[in-house]
Amino acid sequence: MDSFFESPFKGKTLVEQVTHQSIIVGRYSYYSGYYHGHSFNDCARFLLPDEGADRLIVGSFCSIGSGAAFIMAGNQGHRNEWISTFPFFFMPEVPAFAGARNGYKPAGDTVIGNDVWIGSEAIIMPGIRIGDGAIIGTRALVTRDVEPYAIVGGNPAKTIRKRFGGHEIGLLLQMRWWDWPDDHLKKAMPIMTSEDVTGLHRYWSQTIRDT
Ligand SMILES: CC(C)(COP(=O)(O)OP(=O)(O)OC[C@H]1O[C@@H](n2cnc3c(N)ncnc32)[C@H](O)[C@@H]1OP(=O)(O)O)[C@@H](O)C(=O)NCCC(=O)NCCS
Repeated sequence: MDSFFESPFKGKTLVEQVTHQSIIVGRYSYYSGYYHGHSFNDCARFLLPDEGADRLIVGSFCSIGSGAAFIMAGNQGHRNEWISTFPFFFMPEVPAFAGARNGYKPAGDTVIGNDVWIGSEAIIMPGIRIGDGAIIGTRALVTRDVEPYAIVGGNPAKTIRKRFGGHEIGLLLQMRWWDWPDDHLKKAMPIMTSEDVTGLHRYWSQTIRDT
């Protein structure tokens, strides 16, 4: 059974794929673009190349499902409070549009925490912050920030439940296993791949906490 699955990396973590200066990614996070035929760079929509533009920041150990999309503020040449939402400014080749004002309005960085699993074809709106350990359901439309270890789904996305109780979430956020060096992850891997949060916390307390 184990050999049925190919490695989701397919040789390409986000660190290896990302070419855009406004996308920042942590270690081992990967994009599984099997069914959408593009790399992670194209998941970030309307990302501006300019220095100081909103960035897409993705933590470590994130699993990003095929066709997920991050809508960046670059699409906000459309201003709903103006007379027209038409992006005149971005079509300077049309003489009639000369004098149009730039409707771009920054939304702030989009920040995806560590160990976040984003389901296939989920959409994350501009400036959203998703907490560590969260799960975003398939085809969720995320319009509000997501708390650590929350599972959200739907349109607009709502919390379905938390992955762990409050005490365990506190322990996970305290020990931040995603920052551990690989040799500690290797030793802790049997616990990492179990439900034993207190056991992992015990390992951390005995071996890493004070180093
Ligand atoms: C969100 C998700 C993780 C929830 O899994 P789960 O905890 O096993 O959830 P359940 O199937 O027990 O459903 C719990 C509730 O959430 C709802 N729900 C599940 N997935 C949902 C989704 N994507 N959007 C909206 N609601 C969803 C269910 O309808 C159910 O609601 P109810 O309690 O009112 O009946 C899962 O459904 C999902 O979307 N996984 C992503 C899969 C994916 O995209 N994989 C490809 C990338 S690797």
